[in-house]
Amino acid sequence: MERILINGRKPINGIINISGAKNAAVAVLPAAVACNGVCIIDNLPHIEDVTNLVTAMTSLGVKCEFTDPHTLVIDSRDITTHSIDINKMNNMRASYYFMGAMLGRFKEATVPMPGGCDLGARPIDYHLKGFQALGAKVVQEHGIVTLKAEKLTGALIYLDNPSVGATINFMIAATFAEGISTIENCAKEPHVVDTASFLKKMGARIHGAGTSTIRIIGVEQLSGGDYTIVPDPIETGTYMIAGAITQGDVTVAGIIPKHMESVTAKLREVGCIIHEGLDSIRVQGVEKMKPIELKTAYYPGFPTDLQPQMATLLCKASGSSIITENIFEHRFRYANELKRLGGFLRISGRSAVTNGYCNFTGATVTATDLRAGAALVIAGLTAKGQTLIGGVKHIDRGYERLEEKLYSLGADIRRV
Ligand code: UD1
Repeated sequence: MERILINGRKPINGIINISGAKNAAVAVLPAAVACNGVCIIDNLPHIEDVTNLVTAMTSLGVKCEFTDPHTLVIDSRDITTHSIDINKMNNMRASYYFMGAMLGRFKEATVPMPGGCDLGARPIDYHLKGFQALGAKVVQEHGIVTLKAEKLTGALIYLDNPSVGATINFMIAATFAEGISTIENCAKEPHVVDTASFLKKMGARIHGAGTSTIRIIGVEQLSGGDYTIVPDPIETGTYMIAGAITQGDVTVAGIIPKHMESVTAKLREVGCIIHEGLDSIRVQGVEKMKPIELKTAYYPGFPTDLQPQMATLLCKASGSSIITENIFEHRFRYANELKRLGGFLRISGRSAVTNGYCNFTGATVTATDLRAGAALVIAGLTAKGQTLIGGVKHIDRGYERLEEKLYSLGADIRRV
């Protein structure tokens, strides 16, 4: 079993290049299955979730070939089945995008219920309602979702919450519906825009991605083409927070600063010195950090995927911070492991309070999910002595060479 070993208390300094966005990549790859052509996807992050998707795509008869670790050639012209084997999905969340992609292109899809990090209830009812509105019959049995339609017809759906997954999935399926489809109260996250840009490049007609109303004019089919994935805002934020907690000086490069506005604002509020470049942000940590109030929200609000990392930073502030988690009910599950390292969060429902002034000290801990793992690494970087982190498979699902990148910034970190 692999673990990450950190000898903490070393400030990290330097420039780090950010990889392609995980959540965009895991939508664009299934969307490429909807294309009757060859797609070349560049700037793919080299992470487990991508590897698992490629395995699933290959099992459909899609030809996938990496020309380098970040560039994948996908030929979806000769797909042999519209059914994803439950054993090929390895419990990942983004498997739900195969529903929209195959229902759209082939009018049928059989896909296992998605897994993913355990953050509380993660229903897919909006996704299924959207497919039904387009004319699909939906059957859910034995953990498998089967979708079938004679044809898809444009429809309007309204999302009770601006769900990222439901917005993207509906957008992919509705691309193949006759007439016009509309999504009201949809998600505006950068990876929604990225997936829309990919689909548009392949021939889709999508308007309004990035706003709360998206309109899709149906097309007969999508062709192939090339596409470059946007940089990862969550990876970016993770290294910004790592720089802050070690009182280091870190420049995250090859990014889109606009995507980071909520994170930049909160780090400034804490007292960090931030310089924004055209495609980079420099974060300088400070010794005395101010306590703040933090609320997660849909984009452009503070992302739930950076809440564990930011809460870890706030444990070190000079006073009490309140953190409210508005997206996932069980997203404070990492608090117990953080406590082993000296962090402290008092949790009450969707809120957590830290008194600050936490002195992190090394211990053996286990990552319970992807971003919880990132939070433990951040705590380990500032902890006195040795921290040993298990559950590395969660971290590998979403971070490319995390320990190598931190090592290059001067952290004493390695995989054992
Ligand atoms: C995606 C991201 C995840 C991120 C989350 C919120 C991927 C692969 N994952 O997850 O990293 O943390 O967005 O930014 O992109 N909901 C329903 N019914 C549904 C769908 C969602 O009630 O059918 C609720 C969820 O319980 C949650 C909220 O809507 O409270 C947002 O969920 P959603 O944006 O769909 O998250 P995911 O797509 O699961």
